[in-house]
Amino acid sequence: APRVFSGIQPSGDLHLGNYLGAMKRFVDMQNTGIETVYCMVDLHAITVWQDPAKLKHATRELCAGFIASGLDPAKSILFNQSQVPEHSQLAWIFNCVARMGWMQRMTQFKDKAGKNAQNASLGLFAYPALMAADILVYHATHVPVGDDQKQHLELTRDIATKFNHDFGVDFFPITEPVIEGTATRVMSLRDGSKKMSKSDPSDASRLNMTDDADTIAKKIRKAKTDPDALPSEAKGLEARADARNLINIYAALADMTVEEVLRDVGGKQFSEFKPMLADLAVAKLAPISTEMARLMNDTAEIDKILGDGATRARAIAAPILAKTYDIVGMVSS
Ligand code: TYM
Repeated sequence: APRVFSGIQPSGDLHLGNYLGAMKRFVDMQNTGIETVYCMVDLHAITVWQDPAKLKHATRELCAGFIASGLDPAKSILFNQSQVPEHSQLAWIFNCVARMGWMQRMTQFKDKAGKNAQNASLGLFAYPALMAADILVYHATHVPVGDDQKQHLELTRDIATKFNHDFGVDFFPITEPVIEGTATRVMSLRDGSKKMSKSDPSDASRLNMTDDADTIAKKIRKAKTDPDALPSEAKGLEARADARNLINIYAALADMTVEEVLRDVGGKQFSEFKPMLADLAVAKLAPISTEMARLMNDTAEIDKILGDGATRARAIAAPILAKTYDIVGMVSS
């Protein structure tokens, strides 16, 4: 049976890239009726040091963000990774399946470890094996993510394939990445060649999900553009990264294709388009941030949702882990 799994790190402010590349698409998948499992990956977050109080806050805020975006804890399983120990247990098995060379090729490790890779945590290096465990401990078949996770999902397939081969079984599914739509790679508002990210030192480079309406409008007004009018066809955006990014964002927020957007705004100057984009972004994002803030007034309720989610997640993960242990040759009694 198909099953959707995805995760987001509770490692700071959620931004428009997380919303359009992941959360909004999680909601779309939930509403198709397929079983959906969504995780706050706190164990991944601590691969770089996190302030403990901030980690707790960010985990709850991420859960609030999921719900405010339209995920329904009655329809989707929403839970926190560390509350389901089967993730860590399967990750250890995968640490013994994956090869050093595979991990060394991961561009995210190279980016995050920087020049001094010897000083990176061992967890940061093993990160993709834990991610494979997240997915495969549910036998998930479909994983919606942004474009930056593509390489990790290929590694997940490699781990599943090698495990099945090493033990002569057909046990773990070969998961399909789902990287679709106009916002799989939302770029910085200050530099259309860089990905929008939580780690960019410039707050003006991203729209945070907790930004108020004035901040959103101001950041869009200041977004980098070029002096030309908007084209009326998508190919006119090819060499215009900043313009393309803003059009892609508009399309994703409005649930339109790029062609449809350009049919409406082709020929306009940015001075006219930017206020349209700002109005749309405020209309879509402000209700979410208001609802997030409201939900954060009752963290006991959020903790209850995460607790219930963990119980439901474990009911799926525990038998799959038990079967894995048996395949590997661990005695159980
Ligand atoms: P994370 O927490 O960095 O990002 C969460 C999701 O947001 C997407 N995303 C973007 N999409 C479009 N444009 C952007 N600028 C942008 N920035 C981030 C990411 O692609 C992701 O889908 N390793 C994962 C978390 C993870 C996971 C998993 C995902 C752990 N286990 C299992 C799927 C399945 C990560 O660091 O995402």
